[in-house]
Amino acid sequence: MLRRLHPEQPDSFAFTPDNQKWAEAQMKKFPEGRQASAIIPLLWRAQEQEGWLSRPAIEHVATMLDLAFIRAFEVASFYFMFQLQPVGAVAHIQICGTLSCMICGAEDLVGVCKDKIAANPHELSADGKFSWEEVECLGSCANAPMAQIGKDYYEDLTAERLGEIIDELAAGRVPVPGPQNGRFAAEPLSGLTSLKDYESGKTKYNASVQAAVDIGDTVKRIDGTEVPLLTPWINDAAATSARAGAPTAEPKAAAKPQPSAKPKAAKEDAATPVAEAAPETLSAPREGGADDLKKITGVGPKLEGVLNELGFWHFDQIANWTAEEIAWVDSRLKFKGRIERDNWVAQATALAKGD
Ligand code: FES
Repeated sequence: MLRRLHPEQPDSFAFTPDNQKWAEAQMKKFPEGRQASAIIPLLWRAQEQEGWLSRPAIEHVATMLDLAFIRAFEVASFYFMFQLQPVGAVAHIQICGTLSCMICGAEDLVGVCKDKIAANPHELSADGKFSWEEVECLGSCANAPMAQIGKDYYEDLTAERLGEIIDELAAGRVPVPGPQNGRFAAEPLSGLTSLKDYESGKTKYNASVQAAVDIGDTVKRIDGTEVPLLTPWINDAAATSARAGAPTAEPKAAAKPQPSAKPKAAKEDAATPVAEAAPETLSAPREGGADDLKKITGVGPKLEGVLNELGFWHFDQIANWTAEEIAWVDSRLKFKGRIERDNWVAQATALAKGD
């Protein structure tokens, strides 16, 4: 299936203040220079906020992580958990259409979606409340056929039961997820044959369903009324600093060691601070135009702009940086250590030669 951006896009995207704070805290879970690793939680939070991922949302996340837009698009378009088109305001229903579910009646479930929601997957229902799609195995094969609705699984479904569930959701109720045929979990339909002692201490529902019932956010979206978004690894002051673009409050000693593959000009012990020395810069690109610095792995559109502002337009400029000059440039970039981590000097040397 082709996964493309929706033809109709909003003009802009911004996280709510709480989500912005949460997203910046997620970025701090990763070592300096590795903030791009936060892309999936940030894209997911954007989707939680809006229901789907618009182009402005993807670009907003890419900018936060200093990634080329295409890198963020690659992630958003690869994973089916990201919705690239508007979904139902109440729920988006994902019917598993893989082997076990197909054998046990997934086609009937798809039929219900076609009847009750829309003729085609990813099409909104007439009232805009629902949408549906067929997805690959969701790992609940012992409870086939099943569907994911919002954040939870509805298992051991029949066409009739799925129809009732959709009606209940439309009426503003949230049916209890989990097995819909009376099973506790994935035990044999004829009853337990082993581990029978487990029966005595069990909760009303299995652990997943119990958590879903306790939390109660199956089809709920971010609306600003959530309990505080917990980021226990970061205090408020540090999060505020990050929001304002201020230096982090993390002590230097907490910095992770850099990879051993350093450029030849930066072989000093990581614990020994390298004195800074300003490299030669240019006020504008030379005749013939600037090099495309984005060809250097780790340099996205935003970093290229920063480098240009600093006076670097050409591969040979970067190729000639000394350790002291790297330290000078490094101190002016948002995420320190990136130059050495991605070995910009070696990359720029090869690019300057036309490799
Ligand atoms: S085949 Fe449907 S959950 Fe695995």
